[in-house]
Amino acid sequence: MTDDAPPVAAPPEQVTRFLDAVRASLAQGTLAKLVLAAYQGPEAGLKKTVIRPLTLKDGAQLSFVQHYATRDITRNLPQPAGLALVADLLGAQFRSAHLLTQTEDFHLEFSRQGACRLTRGAAVSSVAPAAGHDRTKKRLLDHRKPFLQALGLTDAAQRIIPAMAHKWKQINKFLEIFDQAIADSPLAQQPRIEVVDFGSGKGYLTFAVHDHLRNTLHREAQVSGIELRQELVELCQTVATHEQCTGLSFRQGALGGFAPEKLDVLIALHACDTATDLALHLGIRAGAALILCAPCCHKELRPQLQAPDVLRPLLRFGVHAAQEADMVTDSLRALLLEAHGYQVKVFEFITLEHTDKNKMILGIQRAEPAVPGAKIWKEIAALKAFYGIREQHLESLLKSLKAVG
Ligand SMILES: C[S@@+](CC[C@H](N)C(=O)[O-])C[C@H]1O[C@@H](n2cnc3c(N)ncnc32)[C@H](O)[C@@H]1O
Repeated sequence: MTDDAPPVAAPPEQVTRFLDAVRASLAQGTLAKLVLAAYQGPEAGLKKTVIRPLTLKDGAQLSFVQHYATRDITRNLPQPAGLALVADLLGAQFRSAHLLTQTEDFHLEFSRQGACRLTRGAAVSSVAPAAGHDRTKKRLLDHRKPFLQALGLTDAAQRIIPAMAHKWKQINKFLEIFDQAIADSPLAQQPRIEVVDFGSGKGYLTFAVHDHLRNTLHREAQVSGIELRQELVELCQTVATHEQCTGLSFRQGALGGFAPEKLDVLIALHACDTATDLALHLGIRAGAALILCAPCCHKELRPQLQAPDVLRPLLRFGVHAAQEADMVTDSLRALLLEAHGYQVKVFEFITLEHTDKNKMILGIQRAEPAVPGAKIWKEIAALKAFYGIREQHLESLLKSLKAVG
């Protein structure tokens, strides 16, 4: 730099420490992913960027996947250029950066005024660098299944790719829940089972459920993944055809326009906002014996919620108001399922990488239609009145259905 060059401000110490942690985890091969969120740059619709290490024939790279509402854009950069880009983006375009490694997680946050805060904690993703890492835990899914490699979860040696270890854990946890739910449901002895997975995305869970039903439980399963994004449908269908997965198919479509004649199991994991209501409605309407939903992005009720006086000191904090809206939304969904003949459990599923949305709503159709309908409807009405809720999407969709009880 020449003497008359304008001074360049040094990055805050927290940013330097965060970048050091990124470099160290890359050097040690422990970096699972780096998620840049809270975007404030010029690109319309950009939600977040997820960065993962990968090795190409040109050497070590960083893969940047930019997530928009309806598409993803991927580009790879050599590691030094990728790191320089991350350094430029932090704070300038993204106000949140979450580094997940095998051993530790780091979270760098910028306030709107530009102040930054770095926190670190134990790894939530317990990344498995190789297949051997899973030796101690009996998994329901065998990591040697060829579809896992085709979907990018395992490498050519059938080892879990480190960056996918969290997804691997999530799939296995989901299978444990699914396996138990089947055993507890009217489907326990049923030889043929129809499953629909709404918003199947890259199909990890859809393939896993199909494999579990066909090859572990030996049922004649028909599993369909319904997905809005054509490119994901094509990817999954190609793998299903190539791997000769009998009874597994994928189709492009929107939740709202789907009306299956028969449905035993409805799955909708991480369907945004009222898409979860569409899925629940469809499951109830089709008389699904089993409904498994992991809701996310609860937006509908928050603007409607009116804080009762005594709760105002709690709900003036945005984070509490959001938690309250999530809880009220999912409680109403659970009550509505109960009112339509389901036994319902709401529980923690598995921690997601960069969000606390890890709730599962599990509905198992009761063998005997239950009596408590009137009581539940009263509870629903009381909850809505308490919070000043005018409309909840599932309730509106269900109005045309006759409730049990
Ligand atoms: C967050 S991903 C979850 C994927 C998968 N269920 C999982 O948990 O791994 C949500 C998926 O739902 C799809 N989606 C969103 N709205 C939809 C709709 N109305 N109908 C069908 N798919 C939808 C998105 O394209 C996306 O692939």
